[in-house]
Amino acid sequence: MLMKNQTNINTTLVPFIFFFILFSWIFMTLSAQNTTIQVNVGVLLNFNSGSGKSGNVYLSCMKLALSDFYAANPHYKTRLVLLPRNSKGTVVGAAAADLINNAEVQAIIGPGTSMEAKFVVNMGDQAQVPILTFSASSPCLTSLGSSFFFRLTQNDSIQVKAISDIVQNFGWRQVVPIYEDTSYGEGIIPFLIDALQAVDAHVPYRSVVSHIATDDQIQIELYKLMTRQTRVFIVHMNLDMCSKLFAKAKKIGMMSAGYVWITTGGIYNRLNSMSYSDLNSMEGVLGIQTEIQRAPKKRL
Ligand SMILES: *[C@@H]1O[C@H](CO)[C@@H](O)[C@H](O)[C@H]1NC(C)=O
Repeated sequence: MLMKNQTNINTTLVPFIFFFILFSWIFMTLSAQNTTIQVNVGVLLNFNSGSGKSGNVYLSCMKLALSDFYAANPHYKTRLVLLPRNSKGTVVGAAAADLINNAEVQAIIGPGTSMEAKFVVNMGDQAQVPILTFSASSPCLTSLGSSFFFRLTQNDSIQVKAISDIVQNFGWRQVVPIYEDTSYGEGIIPFLIDALQAVDAHVPYRSVVSHIATDDQIQIELYKLMTRQTRVFIVHMNLDMCSKLFAKAKKIGMMSAGYVWITTGGIYNRLNSMSYSDLNSMEGVLGIQTEIQRAPKKRL
């Protein structure tokens, strides 16, 4: 009687053991699929830029985009982990070295400006870490010839045709470029001069402003321009300098009738990060803006 009972229990256990093994196998397979590989990616941006505060805005956008992406694609085995570093000022090289050597990133997004990019491109090349910039637009960067540098934006030379078309359309014969003395500021100039020549617009002189110019130095430069004949200016500089320049120009009466101000895409594409008073002094300025056609996959 007892013996019979025991054999009964044993035979009823067999399917249970079978299912237990099957379920644990399925569970282990599923959890193995759920383990994801972290991929460190450096984000090298200026997190304390004056008027723009752009680094923080860009980082928030990247985080949102990543969480949207992984929500839509949960089966991806890799997860990008963003490691932000401040590129402010001269420390951009040190920040990039830290990302490459200590954080062992697989790629770096940034830096924001062409001047910073010039410092970092070689480091990426040596360490074979791709550098992806979405805003360093100087055509100069092309000549560095790095195979680990990717520009996810158009270079500035693309804008010169639009600018020269405006100049030609209004029949202006003399134009003065005002630009900062950096690789960003200077990069566009040869292309701009060629494009203006093609529409018979003469560049009698150029106004190069130091990228660390004070308000007073900018004012002195503007007074110099005031004494010359040309009244059509093309401004190509970073946002902070641009705000200073237009504030001074307004103060000394150069934002009035008779003057023409044209700004390049670097300024116009970032108008939304300028303050109300900056925008106020820029009233009447013509700007070039990049148009990106809407596509379902790019929609935010
Ligand atoms: C700039 O971009 C245009 C259009 O994509 C390209 O034809 C040109 O070669 C580029 N120039 C430089 C210097 O990168």
